[in-house]
Amino acid sequence: MSIKILVINGPNLNLLGMREPDIYGSTTYDGLLELISAEADRLGIEVTFFQSNHEGDIVDSIQRAYRKIDGIIINPAAYTHTSIAILDAIKAVGIPTIEVHISNPDLRENFRKTSFIRPACIATIKGKGLQGYVEALKSLYKYLTDN
Ligand code: DQA
Repeated sequence: MSIKILVINGPNLNLLGMREPDIYGSTTYDGLLELISAEADRLGIEVTFFQSNHEGDIVDSIQRAYRKIDGIIINPAAYTHTSIAILDAIKAVGIPTIEVHISNPDLRENFRKTSFIRPACIATIKGKGLQGYVEALKSLYKYLTDN
């Protein structure tokens, strides 16, 4: 049975390509999914995607993953800096999770320096552009096959 990984993207990441390209680049959300899918195919991972602009829907997607998904990659976007509900959902399901940020929030406004999600994650990858998702997939694959 192949490893199952869920990739969750939070608010405004559906606008990749159009949204602040100087920060987030010119690749679209669909382009991101293609990039991740190509690496998943190489590794023999079954990958599914979820994007929402709504906090509760993101919590629901994490809850649905319980006992169905082996690992989660999440870019909670702005909810990173506000959401105790997403933190609690990750803790509740106990699924190994990697936090990804396209930019490096630590080098931006002060309000982006706090991540509520980080304590529940096995790793955080930030400031590596869309390649950060590919790196997360490789790390999670290694973690899941080693453990
Ligand atoms: C982001 C960084 C967040 O601060 C911001 O709200 C986002 C995207 C990133 O990928 O760099 O929407 O998570």
